[in-house]
Amino acid sequence: MRVALMILLGGVIGILGTVQVMNTLKDRNPMPAAVMHTMDYHMGQLGKALKAKQCDAAVVKHHLERVQSTAADIVPVFGVSEKEFVDDAGQLQTHAQEAVQAAPADCAALAVVMKPIGQACKSCHQKYR
Ligand code: HEC
Repeated sequence: MRVALMILLGGVIGILGTVQVMNTLKDRNPMPAAVMHTMDYHMGQLGKALKAKQCDAAVVKHHLERVQSTAADIVPVFGVSEKEFVDDAGQLQTHAQEAVQAAPADCAALAVVMKPIGQACKSCHQKYR
């Protein structure tokens, strides 16, 4: 009984320890979440523009460029060299670049270029998040 209790206690302490270490790591390196939240903010602003049907070309360009440049930080910041992860990050960069180059001038054009960007986010999240 006592042994079983000690084993159980050990397990609980182990789990608590792991959670603590993971939180500490997160505190120490806020960059992965920061990169994701930055892209999320700009995608959110674009989504709002679509909803409000106010897709000012200059504003749209700013947000798309921010998604594109932030996407370039994913691989170095996460420090993951797995091929699929790097490929997904590359896909996002490519689609973001295409979106910037397409220079959407209205909401219909913006919706078209945002779709593959959103899919690139989703594709990586399904595997790695
Ligand atoms: C190459 C992979 C990859 C791509 C592409 C990607 N993400 Fe992520 N994202 C992740 C991973 C991995 C996590 C989990 C990070 C963690 O828990 O520390 C994450 C987490 C997030 C989070 C939660 C952050 C947190 O920890 O609170 C948000 C928001 C997010 N991503 C938004 C986006 C958006 C928006 C895009 C597309 C513009 C995107 N992501 C593209 C891999 C990716």
